[in-house]
Amino acid sequence: MDNTHLQNLFPVVKEKLSLSNEERKQFIFEDKWITYPLAKEILSHLDFLLNHPKKSRMPCMLLVGETNNGKTSIINKFIKTHPPYEAEEVTITPVLSVVAPETATITDLFSKILLRLGAPYRNGDKINKKRELIEHYFNICEIKMLIVDEIHNILVGPVSKQKAFMNALKNLSTELQIPIVIVGIADALHATNTDSKINNRFKPIALKKWLFDRDFLSLLASIEKTLPLKKASNLASTKELAYYIHDYSEGYIGEIVDLINTSVKYSIDNNIEKIDLQCLKKCKFVKPSNRKHFDDIKTL
Ligand SMILES: Nc1ncnc2c1ncn2[C@@H]1O[C@H](COP(=O)(O)OP(=O)(O)OP(=O)(O)O)[C@@H](O)[C@H]1O
Ligand SMILES: [Mg+2]
Repeated sequence: MDNTHLQNLFPVVKEKLSLSNEERKQFIFEDKWITYPLAKEILSHLDFLLNHPKKSRMPCMLLVGETNNGKTSIINKFIKTHPPYEAEEVTITPVLSVVAPETATITDLFSKILLRLGAPYRNGDKINKKRELIEHYFNICEIKMLIVDEIHNILVGPVSKQKAFMNALKNLSTELQIPIVIVGIADALHATNTDSKINNRFKPIALKKWLFDRDFLSLLASIEKTLPLKKASNLASTKELAYYIHDYSEGYIGEIVDLINTSVKYSIDNNIEKIDLQCLKKCKFVKPSNRKHFDDIKTL
């Protein structure tokens, strides 16, 4: 085995090289965190919000980006670095995250929050009762930030309903004096643009598709460090591989990771032990935009 290649792998990945093919394939599809400059910036902004001194007009944020492009992964990474912990009969929960209700009603959002907190409530409780419970539990659990993912769910309702939902979120931030972070695809901008007060409060940060640039190549280099393959693929420095991955993933990080993982599986199954053009072409990965065309969908 090439020594320089081994040195490039993360220690935990190096250990996996001695596992069976099946175990290595299992490892490939486990969730991993790969860091990149924009994710670092967003995580650091989330830290800034989390530690923001309490005031009535707390700054909030909208994390907006294409689908399958790493928004929820960043949120999960942030929660992992600020996990809940037990203290004297309560679970201190620095960050609480929920998914926006498809009904676009604030009472359903409150129910979701209370359910996540394990608080006693009934769906039919009046909204004020739910709000009081939320205030109570946020205080005792010392919740310093609320995250609402998939905020575009609320766009199903009429604009007046979306406006009411966003206003209620803004008011909740004011009452609890905590930052609220909402996360969604570009359409979510419609939700924050219903009103200039909302728009001012929820400052948008965009997670755009990956361009073919230096950051993309360094992402490929970072991903390669996580692959339990015995030979170097040199994804970042082999132009034809990097171009192929960029073209076929169409710049979405979820697709980049998926294409690479699928070709690693092909590589292990065929005893190639690195990703080459053959693996990328033969692993039956279909470009996201071609998945709508029956003729482009591969058989298993
Ligand atoms: N930093 C990362 N490290 C490793 N894998 C990642 C990272 N970010 C994203 N991924 C991969 O991309 C996939 C999609 O990411 P994620 O679910 O975060 O996207 P999303 O923007 O929230 O999508 P959606 O809008 O559909 O909810 C993940 O399941 C994971 O495989
Ligand atoms: Mg998501």
